[in-house]
Amino acid sequence: MQMTRDIGRQSFSASGMAASARAGVGVATASEPSLVQLRQVSKAYGEVIAVHPLDLEIAAGDFLAILGPSGCGKTTLLRMLGGFIKPTSGTVSIAGEDVTAQAPERRSTNMVFQSYGLFPHMNVRQNVGYGLTIAGVARAEIQKRVDETLALVRLESLANSRVTELSGGQQQRVALARALIMRPKVLLLDEPLAALDLKLRKAMHTELRTLHKAVGGTFVFVTHDQGEAMALANRIVVMDKGRVAQQGTAEDIYLRPSNHFVSTFVGEVNFIAGTRKAGQVEFGGGRFADPGSDGKVMVGIRPESILLGVQEGTTDFHFSGVIREKLFLGPFVQYVVEIPGGSVTVYGRALRLGEGDPITLGWSATDHWVVDTHG
Ligand SMILES: Nc1ncnc2c1ncn2[C@@H]1O[C@H](COP(=O)(O)OP(=O)(O)OP(=O)(O)O)[C@@H](O)[C@H]1O
Ligand SMILES: [Mg+2]
Repeated sequence: MQMTRDIGRQSFSASGMAASARAGVGVATASEPSLVQLRQVSKAYGEVIAVHPLDLEIAAGDFLAILGPSGCGKTTLLRMLGGFIKPTSGTVSIAGEDVTAQAPERRSTNMVFQSYGLFPHMNVRQNVGYGLTIAGVARAEIQKRVDETLALVRLESLANSRVTELSGGQQQRVALARALIMRPKVLLLDEPLAALDLKLRKAMHTELRTLHKAVGGTFVFVTHDQGEAMALANRIVVMDKGRVAQQGTAEDIYLRPSNHFVSTFVGEVNFIAGTRKAGQVEFGGGRFADPGSDGKVMVGIRPESILLGVQEGTTDFHFSGVIREKLFLGPFVQYVVEIPGGSVTVYGRALRLGEGDPITLGWSATDHWVVDTHG
């Protein structure tokens, strides 16, 4: 079982924790090489290429999300990091050491699986302390570290409960504690919250962020939920069919998606067909300068970037349209508005507007982006 991995490895010293906390987030600088380096790592299952050769760097202290739809290769990538799957090509290095051929239990990584894999006949304390017990750590030390780790995941009061008596969220925290107690340099989390309801997931997001700050470690979190990736991670790697489609901060990926796939996978987006000719894009009656080759393009704009009921001249682009659909969604109303050249989804608050009503809308040039759809 996964808890027996990393046994006896105590890669975090107190000063090491502080150092990685200080190293903070983002891409490692030249003076500080990244903690994890993947070079041309790929995985093929016969004809199926689960992961195409890719490079990836993870800095110490990163909370990295690997985000993508089902089957895009997230689990395969994570398992190659943890040593559960041997790459078809490429190398994996952790802290400067080539670990490509190393077994999971020899690596300074630890994995939390979606199915928690707890021992049902043991209580919380025994589950969390198991790895250290097997490693032959002294009883007093185990006691101390179990207490510390249970406090981290706020489970002190349930220390002596049987794990079978716990809720899904509590079991998830036991699984986290069991991995954290081994002090892995890199904690690998494969959709650990998938089984929880929305409210519990949101509560766990807060806890995971707090935990990440408290231990100052490096977390790699796999999810297919873009909201979850944005809520947790300081860096997001978006995957599409075994390749990295884009990586960056949540802002980079949401506000400046680099292609059509990322635009549509991360959040809602309207695309309006247009044409670029001699550095000018024309779409639905609008026109702006945009360098690039001649051909068909799409202008992408998020629903929340479109303002309703604007006067001509107050925004860079201005359209007159007609409301074709109205959907009350609680915090806001969603409208589909027909404009010249297509229709756009827009969020608003005005309940008095209805289907068939004329409306003006507009947006700022800084809020849209252009995706080439020609070769
Ligand atoms: N053991 C295997 N044998 C053959 N093909 C596999 C194997 N494991 C994974 N694959 C294939 O590799 C691709 C990537 O699978 P992977 O499990 O990494 O996807 P994922 O992004 O984690 O998906 P999900 O979100 O559904 O968990 C899929 O097409 C899958 O069918
Ligand atoms: Mg998976």
